[in-house]
Amino acid sequence: MMKNVSVLDHPLIQHKLSLLRDKNTGSKEFKELVSEIAMLMCYEATRDLPLKEVEIETPLAVAKTKVISGRKLAFVPILRAGLGMVDGVMELVPAAKIGHIGIFRHPETHMPIEYYSKLPVDIEEREVIVVDPMLATGVSAVDAITNLKARGVKQIKFMCIIAAPQGVEALTSAHPDVQVYCASIDEGLNDNLYIIPGLGDAGDRLFGTK
Ligand code: URA
Repeated sequence: MMKNVSVLDHPLIQHKLSLLRDKNTGSKEFKELVSEIAMLMCYEATRDLPLKEVEIETPLAVAKTKVISGRKLAFVPILRAGLGMVDGVMELVPAAKIGHIGIFRHPETHMPIEYYSKLPVDIEEREVIVVDPMLATGVSAVDAITNLKARGVKQIKFMCIIAAPQGVEALTSAHPDVQVYCASIDEGLNDNLYIIPGLGDAGDRLFGTK
């Protein structure tokens, strides 16, 4: 397995991923599945959060117990499909802040253009988990993370549901310090840069735009 890439093989994630891939899965169920998978993946991706010991008074005695310490979290969905993962991750970390980044490819130069960015004011003090269900060429993910680093963010993870080998390669070489979490690394990309076998266009399936 490639360094810095965790393929989350929990049976619940894998089962829900199969339902998600099915072309007969409708928009309502698709949205619910993306959210559930994002929640389960977030559970795994936050496994290394540091803890500190605190004392809590129970009704009976003082307990030495643990709470999460260290940086606060922010989730940053890449528009538009990344939005589908926000509800699920926020179920687990309700105190997290959310930033939004929108990127498109310039039709002639093919360079990524960030057309929208709204981030929490204290983003540089937070650990950031960037979310986008599909890591295809990796162009948007690389660019979003480059921009977050330019804003001073030091700890970044990337969470997608399906990755193409090309995207994983592009992301891990551009940002070797970023841990990548996915539920599957698929075969590759077709001529239209869709992941094969993938699940089709995640944004269209989430929002019913096709
Ligand atoms: N974006 C999608 O929604 N699907 C793909 O297969 C690739 C990128």
